[in-house]
Amino acid sequence: MEMSSALAPGRSAELEEQIARDASVFRILTGDRPTGPLHLGHYFGTLANRVRLQDLGAEVFVLIADYQVLTDRDTADHLDDYVIGQVLDYLAIGLDPARTVIFTHSAVPALNQLLLPFLSLVSVPELERNPTVKDEITHSRQSAVSGLMLTYPVHQAADILFCKANLVPVGQDQLPHLELTRLIARRFNRRYGAEVFPAPDALLSDAPLLLGVDGTKMSKSRGNAIALAASADETARLIRGARTDANRNVSYDPEGRPEVANLVLLAALALGRSPQEVAAQVGSGGASALKDTVTTAVNELLAPIRARRADYARDLGYVRDVLRQGNERAGAIAAATLDEVRTAMGMRY
Ligand code: TRP
Repeated sequence: MEMSSALAPGRSAELEEQIARDASVFRILTGDRPTGPLHLGHYFGTLANRVRLQDLGAEVFVLIADYQVLTDRDTADHLDDYVIGQVLDYLAIGLDPARTVIFTHSAVPALNQLLLPFLSLVSVPELERNPTVKDEITHSRQSAVSGLMLTYPVHQAADILFCKANLVPVGQDQLPHLELTRLIARRFNRRYGAEVFPAPDALLSDAPLLLGVDGTKMSKSRGNAIALAASADETARLIRGARTDANRNVSYDPEGRPEVANLVLLAALALGRSPQEVAAQVGSGGASALKDTVTTAVNELLAPIRARRADYARDLGYVRDVLRQGNERAGAIAAATLDEVRTAMGMRY
């Protein structure tokens, strides 16, 4: 794939400066697959950043990527629960539906229709080369690779381009998809001789990688994740069971002592302090003092989020309304973009 400025070193720092000057020039789109409850890895990795960007005055679109759930599994079971749970998580952390559009793929037909012209702009070898897709295929338990697995990055381009987002906050693993999106935008404009789509920038997060309580990648399927919606007791239990080591002196050494360092990092993120400070403070208190510090810090951080979530959960009619209104807003924007696409392609009959 063609390299572009989205990957240039320093680009994200430059973008952060522009955000600090005037965030309102950015239309931001991000999304999550609704495969279960959002957890602290999501919170520190991306969710908190979305609230920050919203509060700075950027226009934010948050996609609940329901069709993308079907890339690596053959079932749509529990989708309704997961989708509504995700809206609850978003509201609880402070995404404000008056400023941020929350919507799902499946309710925005014109977004999905962009997939057809976009598929025509990429070659099969380009799709097969995508390193994130290759990785997902390697880890998939499915016996065959579905057509959606290979093509969902093109659908993701439609997620981003339907609203002409100019900024996409992502982790490293999503960069190939963003490169593909830029390629599709440029190719569409060139092939049809119209400036329909801007090429969006990636905003790379500098959040350090938080692991699960067993020291491996935090993920709901591994049972090592602290869900935003978990109770204080459940949180305490998960942290009590976290892996540590025999050295009583707590330090921050991600290479040499990954499990202890991860707990230190978790406390530091929850407290808004540096890991070194937290490690020094716990000092020779050992694993149990460290775990107490982590549990208190996480439960204090999450208490107001959990309280808000419980309030919204008592009014699911409102929660469904938020989604319906987000879907309508996204639908109107997608219809206007599809109109431009049809015009550029001479499909006005
Ligand atoms: N692929 C993303 C993930 O697995 C989810 C996603 C879908 C997304 N569409 C998007 C992210 C558009 C950013 C922009 O988490």
